[in-house]
Amino acid sequence: MKAVYFEEHGDLSVLRYGDRPMPDVADGWVRIRVRATSFNHADLFARRGMPGIKVELPGITGMDCAGDIDALGAGVNGWGVGDRVLPISHHVDWDNGKFDMLGENRNGAMAEYCVVRASQLIKLPDNVSYEDAACLPCAYGTAYRMLHTRGQIQAGQSILILGASGGVGNACVQLAKAAGLHVVAAAGDDAKCQRLLALGADEAINYSTTAIDGWVKKKTGSLLRGGGMDVVVNFTAGDTWMPSMRCVKRFGKLLCCGGTGGYQAVTDIPYLFMSEMSIIGSTGWTMEDQKACIDLVASGRLKPVIDRVVPLPGAIDACAAFEKRDFFGKIIVAP
Ligand SMILES: NC(=O)c1ccc[n+]([C@@H]2O[C@H](COP(=O)([O-])OP(=O)(O)OC[C@H]3O[C@@H](n4cnc5c(N)ncnc54)[C@H](OP(=O)(O)O)[C@@H]3O)[C@@H](O)[C@H]2O)c1
Repeated sequence: MKAVYFEEHGDLSVLRYGDRPMPDVADGWVRIRVRATSFNHADLFARRGMPGIKVELPGITGMDCAGDIDALGAGVNGWGVGDRVLPISHHVDWDNGKFDMLGENRNGAMAEYCVVRASQLIKLPDNVSYEDAACLPCAYGTAYRMLHTRGQIQAGQSILILGASGGVGNACVQLAKAAGLHVVAAAGDDAKCQRLLALGADEAINYSTTAIDGWVKKKTGSLLRGGGMDVVVNFTAGDTWMPSMRCVKRFGKLLCCGGTGGYQAVTDIPYLFMSEMSIIGSTGWTMEDQKACIDLVASGRLKPVIDRVVPLPGAIDACAAFEKRDFFGKIIVAP
């Protein structure tokens, strides 16, 4: 079968398009004919190599997998060949401390076929396209968990979202807006800010030209005068961590699911205790989080933003654009 894979860790130059063996179907597993997958920032981390996570090489990239069941392993009940599915990308065995994830520590879905356990399957409703579905697991599932399950966002609150132009960021903008929050979206250029306003953000900040903490203080007042945002979403960390925490109001929340800009960050300790804010980590998503996202799309309350759809042989060029931040929303690959 054709696949996008890497034989060694490294930059974009190690990514290959070519033939990989057709995956066998073990007992309790199913093989899926992949119809759509997408790029996530975590693909770049997996390809470059992540401390503490062992990737079997050669590794097929791709964490999201929308498609049809192609073959059933022995003992799989309740599913049939041809069923439309959107499996959850990971499997966690808390009792034995084991975790595996498509495109991370086992072969992913940027291929014509991939295999998952039957226990990972989620039915895909007929009115949700494969392309929309492929946006959901990693980006929208993570955003849903961070905002709702962990962050407990409430209608009427204000929220500032950094990195709003990417997959998780776009999802946060849409989910927060749908939940009735006042959304301030922040991105790296004016064109992306315009698109965020068109997507529903109430206000947008270009953080390459405007300091976010200064902007928030000017708009809402100082911490001691009740200024700041109820919720701030930061998954870039690095140099953005301290200014973003200074945007949180008294008793507010700083939500974090990643560190695209660097895992080491400086914390403003006086601001932390003076504001009595909560810093809340969020990671991954559950079946319930993913099903909630599918329901929102199926009922027309959420429309994932797709930057472009490319065929499998075009995936490496699309990945180059992804790495240059030359995209808005999700880049879909349709094998
Ligand atoms: N913990 C988990 O389970 C989990 C799950 C999903 C994602 N994540 C993490 O969440 C983050 C976002 O993921 P994603 O898939 O949405 O990423 P993405 O689609 O690549 O979007 C990230 C956005 O962040 C902005 N950005 C700011 N600083 C950046 C930098 N130094 N390098 C690249 N982009 C930067 C870019 O927008 P501008 O150009 O507008 O600045 C970019 O569009 C990643 O760190 C990812 O690892 C974690």
